[in-house]
Amino acid sequence: MKKHCEESDILKFPHPVLKSSSLKKKIKEITLNEKKYVLYRDNDGKPVAFPIACPHRGALLSKGKINKKGELVCAYHAWRINASGKAQSPSVPNKTCEVHSLKTWDKYGFIWIANKDTPDEAFPEFIRPGYELIGKFSSHFDAPIKVALDNFGEIEHAFKVHTFIGPGLNELNTVDFKVKIEEEQTFGFLDCKYRNMPLFLSSFFGIKKGDHYHNDWVFRFKPLHGSYRNYWTDKDTKAERAVSFIITSFLVPVNANESKIQVFVQMAVNNKWLKLLFPVLKLSTLLITKFEIWADAGIARYAAEDPEDGTNWKLTYLDKQIMPNRKLMDKIYFQKQDKKVLTGEEIEH
Ligand code: FES
Ligand SMILES: [Fe+2]
Repeated sequence: MKKHCEESDILKFPHPVLKSSSLKKKIKEITLNEKKYVLYRDNDGKPVAFPIACPHRGALLSKGKINKKGELVCAYHAWRINASGKAQSPSVPNKTCEVHSLKTWDKYGFIWIANKDTPDEAFPEFIRPGYELIGKFSSHFDAPIKVALDNFGEIEHAFKVHTFIGPGLNELNTVDFKVKIEEEQTFGFLDCKYRNMPLFLSSFFGIKKGDHYHNDWVFRFKPLHGSYRNYWTDKDTKAERAVSFIITSFLVPVNANESKIQVFVQMAVNNKWLKLLFPVLKLSTLLITKFEIWADAGIARYAAEDPEDGTNWKLTYLDKQIMPNRKLMDKIYFQKQDKKVLTGEEIEH
């Protein structure tokens, strides 16, 4: 894991690192893939991000302060750094240098950072037409990024870990699950009889007894994120019910043992009566999502990271795709060269 940060430039890709509401003028420190950065807002409210080491002699910029001009003033010798990264000595004013400031976005309720030259087109847009972003939150996994990736790449744990999402053991014989591996993305398609929420919640969601539950997802690697569309269909007509929601999880490596999962939830309600219940549906969906990701975090800390290639593991059609996922992560996200990934038909169910 530690090798990753030496070899990789993951900041080629925008990463959501902090909730927008928690960033004010005060300096915040974050860790991304073992490297530390400082973030704050300048006088215009725009997020500013730098590596944590002062360019003068490396003191932690997180110990500094923001002055009235919106400059970061280092706590050691008071060098001032402006929002575009120009640093100047107060005692030898002709001594200046440039700090490698990062590009920032304040979008969808999060602060995102990437290398300064990252084009806007690299931003991983994930809001789907017809859906509304109803909430976002940050979750902490005491687990390496590989384990987090495994968790978001299979549904077998749903039988044990989840309450609302995925199938329960009672629905085992109704499970139809397929995966598709492409060069730059992987897919999962789950169809099973719904395991049932408490009756009142099901009716709010327009779910009828015997309905099928679906979780279709796409996972992408620039940066690591999966969008999981949860919806229900009539078991006979296959007509889709009016309410559906998409959970998009960005997997952000913190260090060798910790990851952040930045979660965004979108919802669509295609029924005028159920639309009246939007506040209740929104709240229930957010609570359900938080509860399920909390359950994931609870077990991820005890999951194993190795073996590297999974040859000793007893993988089945429900979790076999975690290995191509890992290889795509190494190849695309961590930019390692030597990873051959099986695609398309080569993955058997
Ligand atoms: S180390 Fe920051 S001003 Fe000297
Ligand atoms: Fe899960």
